[in-house]
Amino acid sequence: MTDLMTDTPAIRVDQVSFQWPSGTVVLDNCSLQVNPGEFCMLLGDNGSGKSTLLKILAGLLQAQSGTITLTPPLGYVFQNPDHQLVMPTVGSDVAFGLVDEKLPLATIRQRVGEALHAVNLGHLMRRPIYALSGGQKQRVAIAGAIARHSNVLLLDEPTALLDPDSQLELVKQVRQLVKDRHLTALWVTHRLMELDYCDRAFLLRQGRVVEQGDPTTIRHRLESTLTPSIHPQS
Ligand SMILES: Nc1ncnc2c1ncn2[C@@H]1O[C@H](COP(=O)(O)OP(=O)(O)OP(=O)(O)O)[C@@H](O)[C@H]1O
Ligand SMILES: [Mg+2]
Repeated sequence: MTDLMTDTPAIRVDQVSFQWPSGTVVLDNCSLQVNPGEFCMLLGDNGSGKSTLLKILAGLLQAQSGTITLTPPLGYVFQNPDHQLVMPTVGSDVAFGLVDEKLPLATIRQRVGEALHAVNLGHLMRRPIYALSGGQKQRVAIAGAIARHSNVLLLDEPTALLDPDSQLELVKQVRQLVKDRHLTALWVTHRLMELDYCDRAFLLRQGRVVEQGDPTTIRHRLESTLTPSIHPQS
């Protein structure tokens, strides 16, 4: 039996229910778990609650019932990196995420350098953020999480604004980081081709995970019963 089977889950969502003050129910006794070292993807139609679930996991929203367990610290990557990167240069942005930790300067430098190296951006330490491509910006956001020694990465459609080449580069790189560093990632996507890079997938519908498991099986099934918001070619 592998450690994937015996470890405590790195992310556990147990019977979580969430509704907006308007009464709109988004999650209805939703459960899933991601094991340490797994790269999992979360799919579902527009409005099915994927972002809401990630925000609950990140503590940005509070569920009305159910329990959430995850191994901190966690890293969160948004669809639009311009909503996430706040400092003028690559190096300063990654360092900014370490401010709360009150680390010695030498440690900050070492962590920033190592994290940028991990996402192949070591050579762009001094580059202004505005001069980066979309894919490079997403890698800076991921470097921020690595610098904070995040064990868990939550990524909400991180490739949505990327061209197809950058999209594939990012998904491959995140897979590599997860495997090399024994991280755990939950990646939201609408792009079915990305499923080829993950270990397991979850399909969210009507507030619950209605299907989970082998990503190829889920990809083929979704392709054969296409819903308008899931595009196999993109
Ligand atoms: N701040 C908010 N206030 C009220 N309702 C909201 C708010 N944000 C999202 N919703 C609603 O909650 C439901 C779930 O939204 P959510 O953003 O989680 O869906 P999603 O699966 O991420 O969709 P998409 O694929 O379009 O990103 C939707 O009906 C949405 O309209
Ligand atoms: Mg969303």
